[in-house]
Amino acid sequence: MMMGKPHWHVLGAGAIGCLYAQALQRSGCRATLVMRSGTPAHPVSVIVQEDDRRLEQQLPTITPESDAAISHLLVTTKAYDVRAAVAGVAHLLADRCAVLLLVNGLGLAEQLLQDRPGLDVYCGTTTEGAYTIAAHHIRHAGRGETRIGQAGLATPPGWFAQWQRAITPCVWDPQIADALWSKLAVNCVINPLTALHRCRNGELASRSVLAREVDTLCDEVARVSRAAGYAAIADSLPATVSAVIAGTADNRSSMLQDVESGRPTEIDYITGHLLKVAAQHHIAAPHSQSLMERIKHRAT
Ligand SMILES: NC(=O)c1ccc[n+]([C@@H]2O[C@H](COP(=O)([O-])OP(=O)(O)OC[C@H]3O[C@@H](n4cnc5c(N)ncnc54)[C@H](OP(=O)(O)O)[C@@H]3O)[C@@H](O)[C@H]2O)c1
Repeated sequence: MMMGKPHWHVLGAGAIGCLYAQALQRSGCRATLVMRSGTPAHPVSVIVQEDDRRLEQQLPTITPESDAAISHLLVTTKAYDVRAAVAGVAHLLADRCAVLLLVNGLGLAEQLLQDRPGLDVYCGTTTEGAYTIAAHHIRHAGRGETRIGQAGLATPPGWFAQWQRAITPCVWDPQIADALWSKLAVNCVINPLTALHRCRNGELASRSVLAREVDTLCDEVARVSRAAGYAAIADSLPATVSAVIAGTADNRSSMLQDVESGRPTEIDYITGHLLKVAAQHHIAAPHSQSLMERIKHRAT
């Protein structure tokens, strides 16, 4: 049984990291930002801008050079930074440290457990939206739901009650693998197409040539989903993708934003993960393969 409120260290002080670190601290938890090696370790002022309010909070920071003991680690880097970022603080992690990955894409939990089998790894997914205005100054652009779980764990761990106080709404999901796969499947369709065609989500429905590409990709992603054991997600994928496109018609996907600003994308952990699973089941996924190659070629 956990005594007192856990102290969360937040690795990845970007848009999502600042949003959650501030929410955890405001709920009465201790929250500390873990900065890159060599950064001066002094408190930073985290500002979360919302439509009707501006929340400013001082948060302590540490770097990998510190001698802190980390019992609860929230990871909010981009997918491609997770492995190196966690390795950089591995010497500070307590035995059975709770590590919550709030990162887009799949395959990361397995990778971390391979590196450090003792970790107690949880996965999360969120529809919250935030972007950075300046260092540690973010805009909370859209409210959404956070789902957290761990494969095989029906009831939440002791720390989860605090998360429900800090983040609203926050749901414990005993079927987190389904939630993560469902998000992956939708992302595998919308993200690469919008990034490649440099279009807003809605154009995937309004331009007939793109709508046909959506249909082809949905068929392919559904085939892989079915083989991976996600038959229900496969069956409803075309309807889910249509609903997401309609509901986010004006949005520019995160992959499009990454491509446009010349940053790396998270495609290795989205389409790349789908392709790994397809290969395990001997399923050809030529459209996804081609999209991944074209995005990687353009984005990096
Ligand atoms: N933003 C959203 O609305 C949103 C919504 C849902 C899901 N997500 C997902 O959440 C994850 C985080 O997204 P984000 O938008 O918050 O990204 P972000 O703003 O780029 O933040 C990532 C942060 O991680 C830091 N970082 C990387 N490597 C590090 C290391 N070794 N040590 C310490 N810090 C390190 C980066 O520092 P530098 O700036 O120095 O590189 C950056 O501050 C992504 O997987 C994203 O897809 C985001």
